[in-house]
Amino acid sequence: MTVLKLTQITDLHLGPTPDFTCRNIPTYQTLLSVLEAIKRDGRGEDRLLLTGDIASDAQPEAYQQLDQLLLAQKKQALWLPGNHDSMDLMQKNFVHFPFMPVFETKSWAIIMLDSSLSGQPEGSISKDQIHQLERYLVALTHKNILVAMHHSPVAVNSQWVDKHRIANHKLLHKLLVAHGKVRAVINGHIHQQHTADWGGIAVYATPSTCFQFKPEAADFALSDQLPAYRWIDLHDDGKINTGVKFL
Ligand SMILES: [Fe+2]
Repeated sequence: MTVLKLTQITDLHLGPTPDFTCRNIPTYQTLLSVLEAIKRDGRGEDRLLLTGDIASDAQPEAYQQLDQLLLAQKKQALWLPGNHDSMDLMQKNFVHFPFMPVFETKSWAIIMLDSSLSGQPEGSISKDQIHQLERYLVALTHKNILVAMHHSPVAVNSQWVDKHRIANHKLLHKLLVAHGKVRAVINGHIHQQHTADWGGIAVYATPSTCFQFKPEAADFALSDQLPAYRWIDLHDDGKINTGVKFL
């Protein structure tokens, strides 16, 4: 049995230069530490899954830095944009890693959805994305599916964070459940570890590579948890093993 090995990193919040800090965290340095940890943990060969907010404010240089870094480390990467990104600038500057809306193996397909709305933190899946998703789900009837997106499709019991929940989550859920082999959704944005059963579909949220939000807070608050990544093993029979590692 083959296992598709992925490592998810999310919410990198890189800036125009490597010494940039976001909320007092040197985000390029914490990213380097996370990549080091991934290597040390024996997951250095995994395909990376980057679930948005790669830049802190859609700076082209942020994408160029990551492009060069991942190229130097000979990484393979799948990615999608978050609310702090620009899809257009990502595609122009992430030159060695062209956007792939679907990645397929013999038994799995990973669908990358754009849940970002220009200029606002809330999530939603656009009509175009919904139509594209419908086409993919028809074409990928026999495959196990992992859907990746930036925003959370579920509430996480944190009032201010839950305002950003994907607005049309009910429609999304209906489509995904109807396929029958959508095994999980994986997301970022909420800067914390969270697992949910979304009416039969597992939802895994992953902490950021820089700073984390305080779980279950009513208003914005940071936690003192360290940067993290998520490892994911996708088995041929549709089984998923996954876990989060903090630095
Ligand atoms: Fe975000």
